[in-house]
Formats: sequence, C-alpha cells, structure tokens
Amino acid sequence: MSLLPTTTIAQIAAYANQTVTLAGWINHKTEKGKLVFLMLRDGSGTIQCVVFRKQISETTFSTAQQLTQETSCRITGSVRADERAPGGFELDVHEIELIHLAHEYPITPKEHGVEFLMEHRHLWVRSSRQHAILRIRAEIMAAAQEWLNAQGFVRYDTPILTATAAEGTTNLFATPYFDQGNAYLAQTGQLYVESGMMSFGKVYCFGPTFRAEKSKTRRHLTEFWMLEPEVAFATHADNLILQEQMLAAIVQRILQQCRRELDLLERDTLPLERVLPPFPRITYDEALELISEHHAEVEGCTPLAWGEDFGAPHETLIASKFDRPVFVEKFPAALKAFYMQPDPDRPEVALCADLIAPEGYGELIGGSQRIHDADLLIERIQAHGLSLDDYQWYVDLRRYGSVPHSGFGMGLERAVTWITGTRHIRETIPFPRMLYRLYP
Ligand code: 4AD
Ligand code: MG
Repeated sequence: MSLLPTTTIAQIAAYANQTVTLAGWINHKTEKGKLVFLMLRDGSGTIQCVVFRKQISETTFSTAQQLTQETSCRITGSVRADERAPGGFELDVHEIELIHLAHEYPITPKEHGVEFLMEHRHLWVRSSRQHAILRIRAEIMAAAQEWLNAQGFVRYDTPILTATAAEGTTNLFATPYFDQGNAYLAQTGQLYVESGMMSFGKVYCFGPTFRAEKSKTRRHLTEFWMLEPEVAFATHADNLILQEQMLAAIVQRILQQCRRELDLLERDTLPLERVLPPFPRITYDEALELISEHHAEVEGCTPLAWGEDFGAPHETLIASKFDRPVFVEKFPAALKAFYMQPDPDRPEVALCADLIAPEGYGELIGGSQRIHDADLLIERIQAHGLSLDDYQWYVDLRRYGSVPHSGFGMGLERAVTWITGTRHIRETIPFPRMLYRLYP
C-alpha cells in the first residue's frame, strides 16, 4: 500500500471533475455552520477544500472540525473549477484521513519578530514567503548548472577541508586535523577548480564556502554557496562576457519558471526584465570619480582615495547610476587576492571585476584573469606572506602547459537575495550561519 497522493496541487487542472487524493498539511481552517473550509498545502501549492456536512459521514465531518494548523492528512474529493479560487480549483471533500494531529503550532498568522522566526527556522521554512524564496533558490541553482552544462562545462567538485587560504588569512575557520595541524574550511573552490580547468578546459565547482569574518551586515553569511566557473584560454574580457550571459540566462529562466513565487513576494520584475547583455563596464578609477561627484546621494557614502575599497554605500551608489548589473573592473592589485593577473599596461591594477547588482543588493560576482606565469605567481605568494610550500601544487599548474585563464565566483545567496528582492540574506538559505546564529 502507498500513502502517496494521486496528484499534486500544482497538477490539479488535469483532474477537473475527477476524484483525487491529495496529501499535505492544513494551513488554515474556518467553520461556517454546516461547512468547514480547509486550506491544504502540499509543497506544490495550496487549495481550498470544502467540507459540506450533508455530503459526508458524521465522522469525516468531525475529523474536519478537529484539524489544527499544520496537521498532516490525506484528503479525497472531487476537483471543481472555481473562478474565484486562487489556483482556479477547489476540492469538494469526500473523505479525510488524519495522519498526525499537530500540536499547537508556534508560528501563527500573527506577526512574529524575526528573532523568534530565526529560532524556529526549521518550521519557518513552511511559510509562504520562505517557501517562495527557497523555491527560487532551487531554480537558480538548476538554471545555472543546466546553462553551464549546455555550454560544455563539466562540474568538478573541490574539497571543503583544505590546507591553505585563498582569499586572505584573516577570515579562516580552522579545525584540528589529526596529526597534520589545522585544516581550514574552504573560502573558495577556485584554486582547486583551476586544476580541473587544465584537464577539462571549462569547469565549475559549486558548494558551500566559509568566511569567518565577524561581519554582521545583511549581506554576509559565514557559510554560503558559491558557483565558480573557470575557463582555459579565457582572458579578462572573455570572463565578463561569460558572466553577463550566465546571469542573464538565470534571470530570464526565473522570470519564466517562478512567476507565482515572484508575485507572492511582490517582486517588481521590471528591473529583472532588463537584465540582458551587455552589462555596462566601468573601471575602478571611473567608479571613484562617480563616487566623488555623487556621494551625497547615498547615506554613509564618503569619497574614497585611490587604493581604498568600496563599502556597501559605495556599491549602492554605483548601482544607482545604471539600469542593470554593472562591472567595476581593474581594482588596485593590493586590494585583491594574490592570484590575479596584473594589467600589462598598468601593473598596479589587476585584470579583475566585481559585478554589482542593481537596486542596492551589492556585489554578486567577483572574478579575474589568473596569473599564469610561475615566477610571477611565486613572487605574489611571497609578497602576501604566504608559505610557498603550501602552494607548490598550485604553482605546478603553471609549470606544465600553463595557459592564460579566467574565472569567477557567484555567491548564490547574494543572487537569491537580489532576484527575490529580499532585504536580508538570512532568508535565502534554509539554515543561515551568521555571527550570532548557529541554531537550529
Ligand atoms: O569576491 P569573492 O571573495 O571571490 C572569490 O572567492 C573568488 N575566489 C571567486 C573566483 O574567482 N572563483 O567571493 C565571490 C562572491 C562574492 O561576489 C559574493 O557574491 C559572494 O561570493 N560572497 C559572499 N556571500 C555571502 N556571504 C559572504 N560572507 C560572502 N563573501 C563573498
Ligand atoms: Mg569580492
């Protein structure tokens, strides 16, 4: 015997005037004399189930009256088209099979504070907004990977336990590793994915990455997912083209596949519809000029001297001057990681770019052309105070058929935050890890 339903609420239109069994949870119940209205949620959607005392047994009616919020059950009934119903259909109930009568559910339709909701994250994910955000998250992951696969990329998984730093040494999570000293949780898969690029040409890694910075802005997680493509023979200019094409493909797919979720989130989709290549490109130097001219327009945005990094207000200001994501290229090399290729015309800047999201959502992507010359790479490793021994394998990649190559990392939760129009990044991953949050 199976407990599986005949169909899901999302597929219900195919069953008009037929009898089906649905399986799910009670969102909400209202009683009006001889009628009980049940909102049933099954993960694919919600549907109103109408229980009419005269048409069913006394026991089924009293079961319906007992149902509490989040009770699980199987409901059998006939599917009836109804123009007024949100999904276009209602279910006239014949029978209800109670699976588990829920205890008093802590999350009720009333407003809860965000701390309370975060403490109940394991339950909060059932709420309609959270459901919509996480559904879009899943679709973004599928869209990105399917797009890359279709372009001939091969997924190449990189380790989480690593021996070294790649993105600075101040934000590493360390954990004792048998008799080999400390292992560090990967800040990026990039260095390892570069080895795959030399085997497959076009690769990407996609997995959790970790940053131990004690930052508590609404854009930071200590554990986040990063998608990192890497391409042999690609220059900095090629890298930007790949980024804008990939991001446009992702956004267009979300607009097609996740209309219902975007509506529920009340996301203004006009700015998303404009996300088509080419994206504007400005240099770091041009960005500084723009900031010096317009800084008064954004609170906390102060003019910057050459060599200083952007803060969130600077990114917000830059984004406000463009109608789609904007690349800021050629940052001072001293601001960036050791592996970035210097601009041959101006070695104090790197062949890199940050992609800044529209509407104040900040940096979505960081990428660069990589140093492909072994001697220069060794010089940079030492200049950054890193131990060459730890990076011998990485330098090796420049010793046997080295090629110019480029890649980038897109923070999944940053993309979800922006595309869903969510204020805080904590709602874009099932269990956010932050400075003050490790439970649940
Ligand atoms: O700019 P980042 O640090 O670049 C790298 O790690 C490169 N190794 C990527 C590469 O070239 N393969 O991080 C890349 C992206 C950022 O643009 C941002 O979207 C996201 O990762 N990110 C974070 N997201 C959430 N919380 C944090 N603490 C993040 N730090 C970076
Ligand atoms: Mg960055």
